[in-house]
Amino acid sequence: MADGTRRPLVAGNWKMNGLRRSVVEFAKIVAGSANLAGKADLMVCPPATLLTALAEAAKSSAVAIGGQDCHPESAGAFTGDIAAEMLADAGAVAVIVGHSERRTNHRETDADVRAKALAAWRASLLAIVCIGEAQVEREQGRTLDVLGRQLDGSVPDGATPANLVVAYEPVWAIGTGLTPSVRDVAQVHEFIRQRLAQRLGAAAGGIRILYGGSVKGSNARELMAAPNVDGALVGGASLKADEFLAIAGVYG
Ligand code: 13P
Repeated sequence: MADGTRRPLVAGNWKMNGLRRSVVEFAKIVAGSANLAGKADLMVCPPATLLTALAEAAKSSAVAIGGQDCHPESAGAFTGDIAAEMLADAGAVAVIVGHSERRTNHRETDADVRAKALAAWRASLLAIVCIGEAQVEREQGRTLDVLGRQLDGSVPDGATPANLVVAYEPVWAIGTGLTPSVRDVAQVHEFIRQRLAQRLGAAAGGIRILYGGSVKGSNARELMAAPNVDGALVGGASLKADEFLAIAGVYG
């Protein structure tokens, strides 16, 4: 549960899904967001091709738009890459960095993720830094070691509640329908909070820590009720407005 000092954030990561017609589904999210009455922040991170259209559709609503990745540099000869400044220019206020799909498929290291988080800050974007253990790491009892190393290496100095959100996404829970027990989630989130506090002091108390991995309407309430869980990073279930709104509705 997000305590009074942290406003919950429910963010949808559309990954490589969505065409122009998806603006219609997004408009339903915007319409439904009115019911939240400011009790939680709502965000959708579409593919880059839809940033401008969704930012336009979200205008004068409380739904924010984010990117899914950025390049560390602000411009240059990097074919196919997108700068944080470009995301901001397209209407994004945040960017996900270090998602496990990028760490795995694009071999991104903690140092890469850290550089991207710094790029996000340079462009005045909120950095949503993802960390998470693989199944084998969990089975070997290395979960907290792995997460501690990822957190230390991926979060730059100077993190504050205004520029950083941490998302805990166990790799084995992404897209599988599996989730850790609420107890395990609570243990990991407390560990993340303490690790941030060792480095950042009191600021750590205000940084939001999201849970991600097979969150849906039917399990959101118990997962979001765990201590130090300040919202969700939602994949598949964010593609359907009704399901996404049901998750956010936990805070309504
Ligand atoms: P799912 O919600 O589809 O498991 O994906 C989680 C995720 O990776 C969000 O970034």
